[in-house]
Amino acid sequence: MTERSVDPMSEVLVLNGPNLGRLGSREPDVYGSTTFEDVAALCRDAARRLGLHAEVRQTDDEAELVGWLHEAADGHIPVVLNPAAFTHYSYALRDAIAQRTAPLIEVHISNPAAREEFRHTSVVAAVASGTIAGFGTFSYVLALQAVAELLAES
Ligand code: DQA
Repeated sequence: MTERSVDPMSEVLVLNGPNLGRLGSREPDVYGSTTFEDVAALCRDAARRLGLHAEVRQTDDEAELVGWLHEAADGHIPVVLNPAAFTHYSYALRDAIAQRTAPLIEVHISNPAAREEFRHTSVVAAVASGTIAGFGTFSYVLALQAVAELLAES
């Protein structure tokens, strides 16, 4: 895969999979009480401080998420991706990520390795630049920092 150097002021897509739009009310014991809108604001703010512009999206639809990954690949746009449950079984998502042309960081709010057995497998990790998990919503900030570092290196 070819990674292209991207202007550090450029866009980063922060893509979120199914059920993440329900953050705040969804299993607060696992995911905390921060709403999805709060997470989106956190990402936009963290990106701004890193000299990036974050566009934050969420979908429950696998086809829409695959389409966004194609858009990122075609536009050489770095991605922070929380694939949510798709992490564990979506080969379609994995194949879309494999086409990436810029850094892509897999993020998780919880630590899937410390949860149910089915969450211990990520079918996307091998085609991501790296994975950050288990730091609550701060995982997104760490992922944006990783994107900024990788762009600066390239
Ligand atoms: C998650 C972990 C996944 O196992 C789960 O299906 C999610 C959220 C996380 O951010 O911790 O929906 O990706």
